[in-house]
Amino acid sequence: MRVGRIEGYAIVSEDGMLADAARVMPPSLMFEADQRFFEHGLDAVDVIVHGRYSRERQPRSASRHRLVMTRRVPAIAAHPSNERALLWNPAGALFEDALAALGMPDASVGVIGGPEVFAFFLGRYDVFYLTRAPNVSLPGGRPVFPEVPVQTPEEILAAHDLVPDPPVALDAGKGLLMVAWRRGAKVIGREGH
Ligand SMILES: NC(=O)c1ccc[n+]([C@@H]2O[C@H](COP(=O)([O-])OP(=O)(O)OC[C@H]3O[C@@H](n4cnc5c(N)ncnc54)[C@H](OP(=O)(O)O)[C@@H]3O)[C@@H](O)[C@H]2O)c1
Repeated sequence: MRVGRIEGYAIVSEDGMLADAARVMPPSLMFEADQRFFEHGLDAVDVIVHGRYSRERQPRSASRHRLVMTRRVPAIAAHPSNERALLWNPAGALFEDALAALGMPDASVGVIGGPEVFAFFLGRYDVFYLTRAPNVSLPGGRPVFPEVPVQTPEEILAAHDLVPDPPVALDAGKGLLMVAWRRGAKVIGREGH
C-alpha cells in the first residue's frame, strides 16, 4: 500500500538544532515568515505526525488529524484528549496501519519532528523543507536528526536521495533561507525498485 505525499518541516539553528537542551524552541528560532510558510504547508496536508513533545500552535491545529508517536502504547491507541488524534508506536504497527486506523489510508502527511520522528521518515519523504535561522547556535540542543552535529542536516538529507532546490528567501531582510529537498528521480529497473 502506498500512502500519499510525505512532507517534512523544520527550522534549525546554524548548528542544526531545532530546540535547546531543555527541549524548548527558543524565540531565536521563531520567525513570522517561517511560521506563515509552516502553517500554510500544514493547512494543505491531511495528517500531521509528531513526537510526544512536539506540537504546532496554529489557529487550525485543533481541527487537524494527527498521529503522536510514543513508546507508551504497544501499537495504536486512542489519544486521551483529542478525538482526531491517535497514539502510535512504530515498533508495534506500520505507518500504513496507523493512517488506516485514522480512517485516512491515502492521506498526505506533514511530519513536524522532533529528531527521531524526522529520522524515522528519512527514506520516505517526497520533500523536506529545511529552514535555517541565521546567526543562531544552540550547542547541546535537540538536533533535527539524531546524527547531527556529527553530520550536517544537508549531508543526511543528501544521503537519503533527497536533492536540494535553490534556496528561497522566506525573509530576505533577516537572511532567512528555506531549501526544499526533494526525492530524486528513481532509477528505473534498478534491482529491488
Ligand atoms: N524547530 C523545529 O522545526 C522543531 C521541530 C520539532 C520540534 N521542535 C521542538 O523540539 C522540542 C521537542 O523535541 P523532542 O526531542 O522532545 O521531540 P519529540 O519527537 O516531539 O518527542 C520525543 C518523544 O516522541 C516519542 N518518539 C520519538 N520517536 C519515537 C519512535 N521512533 N517510536 C516511538 N515513539 C517515539 C517518544 O515519546 P515517549 O517518551 O512517550 O515514548 C519520545 O520521548 C519542542 O520544543 C519542539 O517545539 C522544533
